[in-house]
Amino acid sequence: MVTKVKIDPITRIEGHLAIEAVIDDGVVKEAKSAGTLFRGFEIILQGRDPRDANRLTQRICGVCPTAHATASALCLDDAFGLTDKIPDNAKLIRALILGSNFLQSHVLHFYHLAALDYVDAVSVVGDVAPFVPRYQGDYRVTGQQNAELVNHYLMALDIRRKCQEMLAIFGGKMPHNVGTVPGGVTEKPTEDKITNFLWRLNEIRDFVDNVYIPDVIAVAKAYSDYFEIGKGCQRLLAYGGFDVPTGLLFKAGVVSPDLQLEPFTKENITEDVKHSWYADSSSGKNPAQGQTKPDLKKKEAYSFLKSPRYKGQVCELGPLARMVSNYVQGDAITKQLVDSVLGEFNAGVDALYSVLGRHAARAVEAKLVGDAMVDWLTSLKPDEPAIVESHIPDAGEGTGLTEAPRGAVGHWMTIKDKKIERYQVITPTAWNASPKDDKGQPGAVEQAIIGTKVKDKDNPFELVRIVRAFDPCLACSVHLLDAKANVLGVFRVV
Ligand code: NI
Repeated sequence: MVTKVKIDPITRIEGHLAIEAVIDDGVVKEAKSAGTLFRGFEIILQGRDPRDANRLTQRICGVCPTAHATASALCLDDAFGLTDKIPDNAKLIRALILGSNFLQSHVLHFYHLAALDYVDAVSVVGDVAPFVPRYQGDYRVTGQQNAELVNHYLMALDIRRKCQEMLAIFGGKMPHNVGTVPGGVTEKPTEDKITNFLWRLNEIRDFVDNVYIPDVIAVAKAYSDYFEIGKGCQRLLAYGGFDVPTGLLFKAGVVSPDLQLEPFTKENITEDVKHSWYADSSSGKNPAQGQTKPDLKKKEAYSFLKSPRYKGQVCELGPLARMVSNYVQGDAITKQLVDSVLGEFNAGVDALYSVLGRHAARAVEAKLVGDAMVDWLTSLKPDEPAIVESHIPDAGEGTGLTEAPRGAVGHWMTIKDKKIERYQVITPTAWNASPKDDKGQPGAVEQAIIGTKVKDKDNPFELVRIVRAFDPCLACSVHLLDAKANVLGVFRVV
């Protein structure tokens, strides 16, 4: 029997995302991932002072504004001819600001967005919001361990507050920090700020080591079948991120399904729009020539996300991509961390290509970033500069590529007559949750859903667990439709 499951909105993610799955004989045959909100920041930025991009693009998002602050600052550095002049102090402080947001976001994702798919909070605290409404059944962690996980849900709120406070030491405030600007950063390092940062960082690292990673392992042991679910496209892409004086913490690269590495070149990125609500004339362009021309009348379109592709191929971005990219490039610390977590399951690196693998990669990454931040913090030189002077050129072009908590992010701009002529942003979720491209290839989340067995179409745990493991930055719900596309039911997912 063919049925359609529509999850719209998928909650406990960021923003507006709808998932529709055609299920035949209990297995997903077709999937559609739809971004249902038009933002239009590219259009808002046209004709404005180029420096406005650094302020306004942070407003794309309240959870991951820091990555947009970083990408826009790198883009402006490039357009202003400053890339080689950024002081070491500025590189380190930018990395500490972004790293604080990574730690906050990864803890948020596991405990407050994803864990309630696995942890039975209702049996501990009762039938109260935000733990209901929810899907019924398949909560396998029980007793004391379940009670501890619920307690950690509350502890994680306090840890996230400390991450935000830590970010504000150098960033001024969170969200939408005022520290990361073209030319460097606005705060000088002082002994006082370094000390205030360090005690918070050490408490957060302690939480990652002794609570977050053990909890991910505990959940994974109860749900080991989820190492087999949600494999995805298996082609991974990282732009590279955390550009500190000692090099990139996250190495750039494209990793093929047989774990072969290819160097990343930004010119190979294009965006298709055949299945997006944008004019067909704008399809297939590199973002440096990209356009944002809404067209709401297209019949085949089902998303406001475009379909970014690398050499025409679908790629997955995020912690999985970064950890595998670092792993195949021989990064010793990444290898040791990944092997030690996967060793708990006698599994190889290919186990990361799964629902649980994505959670494990994110937890490992939190440790990698938190530990590296100690080195960055102690490398700051209080007597040295943290910014260089900048001037807006009459004309120019810039690109800013970095990594956000949920994957690589890129900003592209053109300046004409000292104003923004063109601005394009590609978010990691545009890659992961993209609709079909011009060749009909489904996006990364769509591919991860296709082939999944859904045991109970009224409680499609499998599908929401797959989608949430990607940590998409959008918002969502589930509707059930029969083969004639009649809606059978609408489900709220908490
Ligand atoms: Ni976001």
